[in-house]
Amino acid sequence: MDLANKVRLIKDFPKPGINFRDITTLLQDGEAFQQAVNDILALCGDWEVDLIACPESRGFVLGAPMAYALGKGLVLLRKPGKLPGKTVRHEYNLEYGTDALEVHEGAILPGQRVLLVDDVLATGGTMFAAAELVKKSGGQVAGMVFLIELVGLEARQKLSEYPIVTLMQLEA
Ligand code: PRP
Ligand code: MG
Repeated sequence: MDLANKVRLIKDFPKPGINFRDITTLLQDGEAFQQAVNDILALCGDWEVDLIACPESRGFVLGAPMAYALGKGLVLLRKPGKLPGKTVRHEYNLEYGTDALEVHEGAILPGQRVLLVDDVLATGGTMFAAAELVKKSGGQVAGMVFLIELVGLEARQKLSEYPIVTLMQLEA
């Protein structure tokens, strides 16, 4: 199955000029969702990792089944004000705005190898912030995996120090 056909393109969302890649159409197809998770695991499943971490919210959708399949712990990188305990925070620029991510102190232990996962790589701002949280926590970024890479936004340059694999590459 060509999973790219399961991703819906919505033009001018959330503002004019943005081509929004909607993964809800892929997720609601059970066979496509299962194949997406399996294919992502095939790309990075043999990397040596201690933990999976993923940014809220669409990253959770992929991070949870990956962590379950690998038998690894899952660390939630959340938007501001959502985590109840003491947090480490990093602010970042999004393709269409600014935001921040937080992680609980102590969720990632010094020296732990963390696999970062998200649905879409656009400017790379979200994953750069995620990687900063891993490093501020004392962990190491084992690699990054994405369902969709939007090409031409220079995210690869921003994230050049990390191993990156992406399941599909689409026009931004
Ligand atoms: C989207 C997407 C990625 C990020 C990619 O998340 O799910 O996390 O943007 O863009 P970037 O590479 O330019 O950072 P968004 O912040 O819209 O929130 P959501 O996951 O909660 O929908
Ligand atoms: Mg997201």
